[in-house]
Amino acid sequence: MFLTELNQLSMKLSATIFYSIIFLSSLFSYCFFKKEKRLHKTRAKLPPGSMGWPCIGETLQMYTQDPNVFFASKQRRYGDIFKTQILGYPCVMLASPEAARFVLVAQPHLFKPTYPKCKENLIGPSALFFHTGNYHARMRKLVQSSFSPEATRRLVPDIENIALSSLESWANGQVINTFHEMKKFAFEVGVLSIFGQLDKIYRDMLRENYSILEKGYNCFPTKLPGTAYHKSLMARRRLKQILGEIVNERKEKKLLTNNLLSHLLSFKDEKGNTLSDNQIADNIIGVLFAAQDTTASVLTWILKYLHDDPKLLDVVKGEQKAICESEYGENRSLTWSMTRKMPLTYRVILESLRKASIISFTFREATADIEYEGYLIPKGWKVMPLFRNIHHNPEFFVEPENFDPFRFENPPKPNTYLPFGNGIHACPGNELAKLEMLVLLHHMLTKYRWELVGPADLIQYSPFPVPEHGLRARFKKEL
Ligand code: HEM
Repeated sequence: MFLTELNQLSMKLSATIFYSIIFLSSLFSYCFFKKEKRLHKTRAKLPPGSMGWPCIGETLQMYTQDPNVFFASKQRRYGDIFKTQILGYPCVMLASPEAARFVLVAQPHLFKPTYPKCKENLIGPSALFFHTGNYHARMRKLVQSSFSPEATRRLVPDIENIALSSLESWANGQVINTFHEMKKFAFEVGVLSIFGQLDKIYRDMLRENYSILEKGYNCFPTKLPGTAYHKSLMARRRLKQILGEIVNERKEKKLLTNNLLSHLLSFKDEKGNTLSDNQIADNIIGVLFAAQDTTASVLTWILKYLHDDPKLLDVVKGEQKAICESEYGENRSLTWSMTRKMPLTYRVILESLRKASIISFTFREATADIEYEGYLIPKGWKVMPLFRNIHHNPEFFVEPENFDPFRFENPPKPNTYLPFGNGIHACPGNELAKLEMLVLLHHMLTKYRWELVGPADLIQYSPFPVPEHGLRARFKKEL
């Protein structure tokens, strides 16, 4: 008994000694590696650049110049990786395709999306683009399948109807603000792709409240009644109610067809949990937000670029008219396969996305101290891949300031063409965006002509860049 106890004691002792050794050696290696890491860290230096004034950094320089000029001059001075401070946030800017790939594709878990809380509250904190990990992956799968080429090709006839009635409404002799009209068009297509067919009364209510919501997005975030931000929050509340009514109606009538809303409603995770009303509303408002101004500003630029190059305009018109002559069936409407036979128009879209680079950069936040190319990106710093700088680098796009759709006869070098981003947050709506642009352009180029009214050489930020006054134009139906 005693022996057994002694044995047990000795076993306990040896186990204790064994675990102590393991513990001490782990502690030792931890301290050693931590020290190594620290030394390693101190060896990596911050990127070159200027942090500007205390607190405000270089915010004033960025906002008083054209931000694109600001970034381009920094790149010339410091190279492809540089630091700055904007709105009180220390930032590392990345202007090379490899660095953008590192952040967005190779190591996305080290860089999380980051948005100010006040903006998150307007869109809705459960919208997929604020998230990473499991929740993001699930939502993204739903969104991606709703906007896949298979899903969007069914929408061609409805998109065509929206395009035709938009064009008809512009050609009434009045001067239109092209950007505003394109926004209405993109909103209608967004609603169609989210809900499928939706009663006009709901569409009008959604549009009215969404337009109040977006007005507050770039305003000072105060909840004082009467301010744009407060009105925006109120409009958001109403949007949620309207979405609730639509959801109830769909559930009652069992109208669960193949669109984003029905995918959100039928979602169940592995434990059988469904999505909450807030998660559904936030993701719908998020998609509307991502879909409208982006597509509208690119379309506005396309009109400007084509207007500025009458020879190119003639050739593109020729391509579109040939489709009417050789492809139209009896009902004289477009099909998805016809939209695949517009190579030049498609390249005009690609080139407009490049030249205008309406999303000049994106934001991430470093989730740890990261070393890249011998530089330290400290934890918590904002990291901004600069899409526009890459798109305007003559090394990748010869004479980048020229509008030349023919350059896309050859594919761009890998990771140099990023109008829709890259990696796990890349735009899931890119096929839909290109499809709706092709459909609108087809009818615009074959049935209408337009002239610009007043100056259009300056750029306004709304918040995406568009020609000044939203490109004022007068449309006429061709006889
Ligand atoms: C020409 C039009 C468009 C452009 C240039 C564009 C561009 C982009 C870019 C650059 C991103 C990635 C942002 C980042 O990495 O931080 C993005 C994300 C996103 N876009 Fe688009 N977009 C367009 C149209 C659309 C449309 C039509 C939809 C929906 C129908 C849409 C839905 C989204 C969503 C939901 C995300 C977030 C994806 C995620 O976080 O996983 N976009 N878009």
